[in-house]
Amino acid sequence: MDAPSPFPTAYTVRHIRIEPNLVLAPMEGVTDLTFRRLIRKIGGAGLTVTEFIASEGLRRGAAQMEQMARIDPDEHPVAIQIYGRNPMAMAEAAKIVEDLGADICDLNFGCPSKKVCAHSGGSALLKDPELAQEIVKAVRAAITIPLTVKMRSGFDAEQRNCPDIAWMCQEEGAEAITIHWRTRADLYSGTRAVDKIAATKQRLSIPVIGNGDILDYESAMAMFRDTGCDGVMIGRGAIKNPWVFKQVRAQMLGEPMPAVDAEEKRRVLIEYYESCRAWFRSDRSALGRMKKISNYFTHGLPYASDLRVTILHAQTVDEAIGAVNRYFDDLGEWRRASPGAGQTTAFGG
Ligand SMILES: Cc1cc2nc3c(=O)[nH]c(=O)nc-3n(C[C@H](O)[C@H](O)[C@H](O)COP(=O)(O)O)c2cc1C
Repeated sequence: MDAPSPFPTAYTVRHIRIEPNLVLAPMEGVTDLTFRRLIRKIGGAGLTVTEFIASEGLRRGAAQMEQMARIDPDEHPVAIQIYGRNPMAMAEAAKIVEDLGADICDLNFGCPSKKVCAHSGGSALLKDPELAQEIVKAVRAAITIPLTVKMRSGFDAEQRNCPDIAWMCQEEGAEAITIHWRTRADLYSGTRAVDKIAATKQRLSIPVIGNGDILDYESAMAMFRDTGCDGVMIGRGAIKNPWVFKQVRAQMLGEPMPAVDAEEKRRVLIEYYESCRAWFRSDRSALGRMKKISNYFTHGLPYASDLRVTILHAQTVDEAIGAVNRYFDDLGEWRRASPGAGQTTAFGG
């Protein structure tokens, strides 16, 4: 058994204790209620965040946005994330977020998508500090629950200005800041550079959460060590391995890392498929979501490329469930025939 982590294992956002200090990242098309339930059931995340929700849609009462903002009565603490460029729309949407029972309202200053940036939302706000300030001010005045902001380290290599923007957010009343080390221009590539997270942490008195490429205990500890951050946020790593929070938490506490065997993976994947079927109105929508998650989830499983292709071509939820069951049956037989083979997977199981 390893020694417990030398770094803090909790932080507080005003009165809300985030323990452990491991946060499920907001991910559009992923962190809806079904995925967050999966993560909560497995355990180990101290805070979950919804996918980003358009403030304009939420304040208009668009059904899709309301569905995206749904939280379970026992899903706490939870943050609802909103985005937009109009301070009044953001303030109105934030009030709705508060009324829906969220513990925290999170603002998106990080989305790199052309559609969002074209309207000066998401990471385009890093280039427009005055508008960003107006938004934080308007939202702060509209709600009483804690307000947090998630951003990238900057717009591009020339403008890695997150320490300034984060400082402004703090001065306007934000109570925690999450920083993804990449710039908007990096999209999802680039060489790891967490220096601006460290600089922001040095400057701010509110919690700073480090984000970007955290997949396991080692990468989480590297983020704590290199930046002094108060917590870490995990996105894609949690789709590949929904047990990551439980595993990192155990290792942080010096406990043995929970093993995840093939049967557990089968059970969780099928349970997730069933909850997609119940959540989405049509098999088509459920399948779309299942295909997206399965691509990440099966990564690292032995001989899973055929499974991915079969799921990709599945026409019904039942077909996809059948493919998953066949794959795990075959995997079991293969392991019985070749003991010791394929025991190590991306899940560490
Ligand atoms: C499919 C997908 C959707 C995302 N949607 C959002 C979002 O709605 N809001 C947000 O702030 N960031 C979003 N992100 C960015 C993540 O929250 C996170 O900052 C990024 O993936 C880096 O963390 P990771 O390396 O742990 O994945 C998204 C990322 C992915 C991969």
